[in-house]
Amino acid sequence: MQMTVTWTSGYGISEAHPFVEWGMKGSHPVHAAADTVTFGRESLCGEPARSVGWRDPGFIHTAFLKNLSPEKEYYYKIGHRLRNGQVIWGKPKSFRAPPYPGQKSLQRVVIFGDMGKDERDGSNEYQNYQPASLNTTDALIRDLDNTDIVFHIGDISYANGYLSQWDQFTQQVEPITSRVPYMMASGNHERDFPNSGSLYNGTDSGGECGVPAETMYYVPTEKRDNYWYSMDYGMFRFCVADSEHDWREGTEQYSFLDRCLGSVDRARQPWLVFIAHRVLGYSSGFFYGFDGTFAEPMARQSLEGLWRRHRVDVAFYGHVHQYERTCPVYEERCLPDGHGTVHVVVGGGGSHLSNFTAEAPPWSVYRQMDYGFGKLTASDARSLQFEYRRSSDGKVYDSFTLRRD
Ligand SMILES: [Fe+2]
Repeated sequence: MQMTVTWTSGYGISEAHPFVEWGMKGSHPVHAAADTVTFGRESLCGEPARSVGWRDPGFIHTAFLKNLSPEKEYYYKIGHRLRNGQVIWGKPKSFRAPPYPGQKSLQRVVIFGDMGKDERDGSNEYQNYQPASLNTTDALIRDLDNTDIVFHIGDISYANGYLSQWDQFTQQVEPITSRVPYMMASGNHERDFPNSGSLYNGTDSGGECGVPAETMYYVPTEKRDNYWYSMDYGMFRFCVADSEHDWREGTEQYSFLDRCLGSVDRARQPWLVFIAHRVLGYSSGFFYGFDGTFAEPMARQSLEGLWRRHRVDVAFYGHVHQYERTCPVYEERCLPDGHGTVHVVVGGGGSHLSNFTAEAPPWSVYRQMDYGFGKLTASDARSLQFEYRRSSDGKVYDSFTLRRD
């Protein structure tokens, strides 16, 4: 097992040596040296990120803490050893190591998209664009003792090329990210820009083209800009897709998804979860329903066979700012539990809400136009519970349980 710790400082490698001091409670601490990276204006791809939105990101350090014992509590603090030998320390923090793949224990996964950031004092409002972001953040912090891992599945900070807003976001979520794994998916507001290699040619990233997100948050991708990856966590396997790069049959990403979904031993890891930012499955959000596709064009035709063949339990999406859940579905028909995939939109993390189509399609079981976040709870290999909780007070709007014999 390993965990990564990533942080930002003003110390370049010629000024100080970055490291993490860590260990189990009561044991002698060890030091893990950190890698240091940064990025310049020239690595961004357009406006405003390269001009009025530019802000020097400082230095981004990542240390790998390896050979962890599953589910044990560890303490750590970041340090910078200056050239004169003095060490500048961060505050002491702690985390619990993840369960090993296949481990049966209580595993609680929080998942949402499109959260963004907001200002507690009302200052510096940018179109009041993510009004519930602080509610969601605060609700997650209140429930942190009952949370093992978090997935923020795209549209992360909505900095949109104004890079100082990344600092605001990282500070807002620091109580969460310093304590539990904070996993990402890539969204249009991180990645998209014309002629930059994104599948869509919109300008939603404001010229960032994914560089700040990919540099500031570590996820186990093989290539940094191909933001797809596989992650094992106890009884779960997560296959995280990158909806901003092509997923269709014949692409590198399609092969990856086929491998990720197909290579898991379901006897040990029964719960198979697919994640993408844009809705590649089912949504009756007005935006999708309006053009009659109920998903990104071509997405479902490309991927539905994979979900079916590999018996994917649940697929999660963001991008539309609302909550929706389908029946276990295949080719728009509801099937018995275990024979189709349940598609869940959890895009209500904080950014302004979106409408639904007037009529709910037959596969749509629950629709809620309010801010919230999802939570999966698995305690054994036979049942998986899901809840959609309201951001403002944690009230449970909707829940369902998947059962396996
Ligand atoms: Fe989005």
